Amino acid sequence: MKALVFQGPGQTSWQDVPDPDLKDAADAVIRVDAVTICGTDLHIIKGDVPEVTPGTVLGHEAVGEVVEVGSEVRTVRPGDRVLVSCIAACGRCVFCRENRYGQCRGGGGWVLGHLIDGTQAEYVRVPFADLSVHPLPGAVTSEDAVLLADIFPTGYEVGVLNGRVRPGDTVVVVGAGPIGLATIATAQLYSPGRIIAVDLAESRLQAARDMGADATVGADEGPEALVEDLTEGLGADVVVEAVGVPEAFEQCTRMVRPGGHVANVGVHGRPAALHLEELWIKDVTITTGLVDTHSTPMLLRMMAAGRLPAASAMVTHRFELGQMEEAYDVFARATDTGALKVVLGGPRHDEVSVPA
Ligand SMILES: NC(=O)c1ccc[n+]([C@@H]2O[C@H](COP(=O)([O-])OP(=O)(O)OC[C@H]3O[C@@H](n4cnc5c(N)ncnc54)[C@H](O)[C@@H]3O)[C@@H](O)[C@H]2O)c1
Ligand SMILES: [Zn+2]
Ligand SMILES: [Zn+2]
Repeated sequence: MKALVFQGPGQTSWQDVPDPDLKDAADAVIRVDAVTICGTDLHIIKGDVPEVTPGTVLGHEAVGEVVEVGSEVRTVRPGDRVLVSCIAACGRCVFCRENRYGQCRGGGGWVLGHLIDGTQAEYVRVPFADLSVHPLPGAVTSEDAVLLADIFPTGYEVGVLNGRVRPGDTVVVVGAGPIGLATIATAQLYSPGRIIAVDLAESRLQAARDMGADATVGADEGPEALVEDLTEGLGADVVVEAVGVPEAFEQCTRMVRPGGHVANVGVHGRPAALHLEELWIKDVTITTGLVDTHSTPMLLRMMAAGRLPAASAMVTHRFELGQMEEAYDVFARATDTGALKVVLGGPRHDEVSVPA
């Protein structure tokens, strides 16, 4: 089969590799029908995730059809259409028993496209299939469903739930990339009073308004002053960091009100300053987290019911699976191309409509 293989920092190739086989009785092999690229894949290619070794197939988000299952798999069968979650779960370890699948100690967690071969391929082997793939309701298209493999559960669990968004709250989301936009979309499930999006790129602020943000402001145009004005000097109830740089995290801690929550979602490669000399007196809660994807079944039900209408607006570019290198190029140059999510359809896809 063909797959996108990481060859070391700065190098990938779309090339022939052996078809994946079942390695364990709990595995399934999935034919990939829709797959997307994540900002984290770009971090890997840059060399920021050194545990990814050359030769690994990238990708941790996909929709496809089950072609083969091991003898222990009970919940899916060949022919089933499934969502492949970015997080696998053994279901047995102490963390899986607490729904903290991201922290799985039994061989799950974020393994696809990281520690084992991933989804940017014609076929993928998924470990612990019973807990790591989700059968898809017919009403959900592959293109929409693939957004639930990572970005929607991440924005919802690590942003909205950790940030404890409540009705009437002022919610600030710093960073309006796919993760920030998914946070904006799912925060609305809790009827906040207003959502303010902060980013450096005007195209991303426009996307935030399209996704339901009430106000937007450039990160370098004084978001602190705007939040202060809008909240009569109190600060925001919830501030979500969806960038992953120290400046953004520090800005979040300047915008939160006493008693408020700062939910960090961004993946940080450098230390950020924690200004305890200012924060200690404010009763502030700061959370961190890797997505667990425990919310994926709920998000799928909402999507099937038409309650996540904005999701598909996030797909800006569509490609055939074989155009992987072109898709990476468009995604990596998001500022020029306006790319948010690029979706690639496999040879047997029926719902990713690739323009001729
Ligand atoms: N915690 C998790 O489980 C988890 C899961 C997936 C992704 N992530 C992380 O979430 C972050 C966001 O992901 P994404 O795919 O949306 O990334 P992205 O790069 O597409 O979006 C980041 C956005 O932040 C903006 N930005 C950059 N510097 C800024 C600044 N100083 N202030 C305000 N905005 C700024 C950019 O213009 C961009 O729109 C990344 O760090 C990613 O690795 C975390
Ligand atoms: Zn991802
Ligand atoms: Zn586990």
